[in-house]
Amino acid sequence: MSGEGKVVAVTGASGYIASWLVKLLLEQGYTVRASVRDPYARKPMLNVIISLFYVMHTTADPRKTEHLVGLDGARERLKLFKANLLEEGSFDALVEGCDGVFHTASPVLLSAHAQPEELIEPAVKGTLNVLGSCAKAPSLKRVVITSSLASVVCNGKPLTSDTVVDETWYSDPVYCEENKLHYPLSKTLAEKVAWDFAKEHNIDLVTLHPVVVIGPPLQPILNLSVEFVLNLLNGKTAISEPNYRFVDVRDVALAHVKAFEILSANGRYILDGMVPNYELFKILHPLSPGLVTLEEKCKDDKPFASAYNVSQEKAKSLGISYTPVEVSLKDTFESLREKKFISF
Ligand SMILES: NC(=O)c1ccc[n+]([C@@H]2O[C@H](COP(=O)([O-])OP(=O)(O)OC[C@H]3O[C@@H](n4cnc5c(N)ncnc54)[C@H](OP(=O)(O)O)[C@@H]3O)[C@@H](O)[C@H]2O)c1
Repeated sequence: MSGEGKVVAVTGASGYIASWLVKLLLEQGYTVRASVRDPYARKPMLNVIISLFYVMHTTADPRKTEHLVGLDGARERLKLFKANLLEEGSFDALVEGCDGVFHTASPVLLSAHAQPEELIEPAVKGTLNVLGSCAKAPSLKRVVITSSLASVVCNGKPLTSDTVVDETWYSDPVYCEENKLHYPLSKTLAEKVAWDFAKEHNIDLVTLHPVVVIGPPLQPILNLSVEFVLNLLNGKTAISEPNYRFVDVRDVALAHVKAFEILSANGRYILDGMVPNYELFKILHPLSPGLVTLEEKCKDDKPFASAYNVSQEKAKSLGISYTPVEVSLKDTFESLREKKFISF
């Protein structure tokens, strides 16, 4: 197993992507240190009693960690650490002695009501805090940061069917600010400080830039991108875009591991899969009685507007073959049904 004898840290481990990453790392034999805001490492059978206690006496939420402590290999090789992005030095103990660090923690809020400070400070200050801890850890070989396509495409350049977006593209903070794109701004600024800090402190850094991540959640609480699929299925959100860009969470987790393990991996990697609106309609329609499309044309075999392209060249070098979007969507649907988020 590729991870035997290696110690790695994952920040924001209770999150959707990080949970799959922790699972994969444990399967590969790694010893994993996982940071969460509220550690809750208890034996599952005690959880009901302790949940009640916690609900009454603290803010800790067992649903943030019980899916992690229940993973195969967790008992032997998973340790939870308490850390907060906003607290300086919070990640020192997590990172000390590690071979690699995967920094995934960052607030994911896309609502127009989200305040810029809720996103930007934890994203930017948090990245600097994590990297500050990394700079103090001589054992460290590489840091992999979960960035986003949001730090790549939001720059006002036209996105037409002739456009090919690749890893040389950067989002423009001024454009993001002017257009109140707070989440893209948080990811853009966080990525910039990460590259500057890594250069200054000689840290081997790789950044990953997934599009919307879908697939079955391990955690019991809905995260934003899975909620988006739920809202398509239950009719709260209509299919209204020319195309949707989805990548499977299991492929994203694997890309993180590859980005750490492949010695020649470097720079930025966009992780993208594109599905035109009519294809999305055809996949979801049999699953959902409430599915809504804003365009009747979805029922034809043509998109109702053109879509931009994203270069796949760099991602291919990580050796990932993407799960077909149909499989990802169906697995998401099954998981949402199993977790009782949908009843049809
Ligand atoms: N899902 C997507 O479609 C997608 C696409 C591209 C990039 N990404 C990026 O992937 C990463 C993970 O996203 P996700 O979808 O897995 O989201 P998620 O499930 O909401 O996870 C976010 C994680 O960040 C943690 N976090 C937020 N604020 C924190 C703070 N102040 N201190 C410590 N931890 C904090 C959360 O901790 P709590 O559980 O305690 O709140 C949670 O563990 C993010 O960096 C996101 O920008 C996601």
